[in-house]
Amino acid sequence: MENLHDKRKVYEKSQLLENQIKENPMEQFRNWFLDASENPDVSEANAMAVSTLEDDGCPRTRMVLLKSYTWEGFVFYTNYNSRKGKAIESNNKACLHFFWPTLERQIIIKADLERLPENLSDGYFQSRPKGSQLGAVVSPQSEVIPDRDFLENKLKDLEKEFVNKEIPRPENWGGYLAKPYEIEFWQGRPNRLHDRIIYELQDDYNWKISRLAP
Ligand SMILES: Cc1cc2nc3c(=O)[nH]c(=O)nc-3n(C[C@H](O)[C@H](O)[C@H](O)COP(=O)(O)O)c2cc1C
Repeated sequence: MENLHDKRKVYEKSQLLENQIKENPMEQFRNWFLDASENPDVSEANAMAVSTLEDDGCPRTRMVLLKSYTWEGFVFYTNYNSRKGKAIESNNKACLHFFWPTLERQIIIKADLERLPENLSDGYFQSRPKGSQLGAVVSPQSEVIPDRDFLENKLKDLEKEFVNKEIPRPENWGGYLAKPYEIEFWQGRPNRLHDRIIYELQDDYNWKISRLAP
């Protein structure tokens, strides 16, 4: 095994001070997301971890791609029958997490999830390349399958079936809107005295802003 005790980095690229932040966390998110997505050293800025709670009481995390964000929240697409889909069915709370090491930043979001209206999922599905559309139809996401050929053969059959035809969105595939009620922005700083600014949604729908100890 390996000892990693001496593996540490000095964070010194930026800072997050009260006089620089936006009043609304979605605006603050927009600023940071643009910094990440416009930085050529950040690959897949829109990749985020999503943790859901499973029936055994243990959270489970996987990466998905953020496909849009609005004042309301964050949108990603997946299979509603997947393991995450089933977890969300019984507990619609999730934690979303971004980490952009190049920028020495992380964002932690607690949110309530709801399915996107079907017409929005349809619109996004139809905008995807045909290969991705077929992939979504072919894959019974999260289920045990016999082997890789199971997927490849199904794909070949569907490619023939849908030649020159529009592929309908499978009912069990679509978007989730994650509506945040807590968002923390973390900026790495020297000497482990990092900046942590947390926004918490209040009953009157205003956001309370506080600084947390690192
Ligand atoms: C960078 C990255 C992006 C991904 N994006 C998605 C996505 O947008 N939607 C999705 O369903 N799975 C995506 N996946 C696959 C998921 O991580 C996961 O394997 C899949 O959704 C099944 O998860 P589950 O069994 O926990 O439901 C992505 C994986 C990676 C590594």
